[in-house]
Amino acid sequence: MRHLISTKGWSRDAAISLLDDAITMTARGQTPTERPLADVTVANLFYENSTRTRVSFELAASRLGARVVTVLASGSSIEKGESLLDTAATLEAAGCDVVVLRHPESGAAWQLTQVARTGVRVINAGDGTNEHPTQALADAFTLREAIFGSAARGNGLDGVRVSIVGDIRHSRVARSNVHLLTCLGASVRLIAPPHLTPNNPNDWPATWHTDFDEALGYPTDAIMMLRVQRERMAAAELPDTEAYARAFGLTERRAAVQPEAWIMHPGPVNRGVEITDAVLDGSRSLISTQVTSGVRVRMAALTSLFDVPGRQARRAGER
Ligand code: NCD
Repeated sequence: MRHLISTKGWSRDAAISLLDDAITMTARGQTPTERPLADVTVANLFYENSTRTRVSFELAASRLGARVVTVLASGSSIEKGESLLDTAATLEAAGCDVVVLRHPESGAAWQLTQVARTGVRVINAGDGTNEHPTQALADAFTLREAIFGSAARGNGLDGVRVSIVGDIRHSRVARSNVHLLTCLGASVRLIAPPHLTPNNPNDWPATWHTDFDEALGYPTDAIMMLRVQRERMAAAELPDTEAYARAFGLTERRAAVQPEAWIMHPGPVNRGVEITDAVLDGSRSLISTQVTSGVRVRMAALTSLFDVPGRQARRAGER
């Protein structure tokens, strides 16, 4: 694979083989064979705030032996008005092989693939409300390990039922997850208030609900909570936080309705809004595992862009 922009249209085999590659991605190796990207330079180009995505790409690249530079909008020539495309061209001219891009505009990562000169590879680390493919990989990897344990290798998520709850309208995580989870054989239930439901809900391969308590009546294997993404909303869309928490917060009472379900959240969390402390820190929570998995799947994703001997993953994404 040359770029990683979206999880849409992946083949099941390619998705499973990427997840399988991530199983082996734990070493902090020092020998040349454990540093497969020793000749590679990765630029993290972040126009939006990020903690876990940025840190996990930095750690993933450095654990593979790559050199890593991070460019944040604040403190770079972006503040002097340099465009995204010129900034990316500058990074490429300086010798970067991969641009990991986070950008507030949907489609920005794809746009870079259209203009990138010779060899630069692009990974979408979140573009507007569109997609966040490596977060979906982290989530699928985490859930597969929770369900299958040491027998996870080679498995999809057949028959697994996932409920995603909250601000779906502005969530690139939800979109990438729906594509990837359904490609792996899972079924998805999406639960959002009407004003945080996307305009075209029927285009999503999922069942929709506007009432969290009613949706909790259906069996589910995982409940994935989303943050209310205020920074992506117009003032008129902003929900009343207390009313939102009452209707859509995952409390102990609600979590107890599906006592076997794993609890997930891509972070960052607004404690007490979409999820209470007790549920977040409880024994069914996979939230910190999702962060650890994030490093592992990003190592697999970075490796998949290069022809590294011994790598299993087949073509997963576009081109
Ligand atoms: C998400 C994002 O930025 O899209 N966070 C992340 O990358 N883990 C979700 C969010 O910001 O709420």
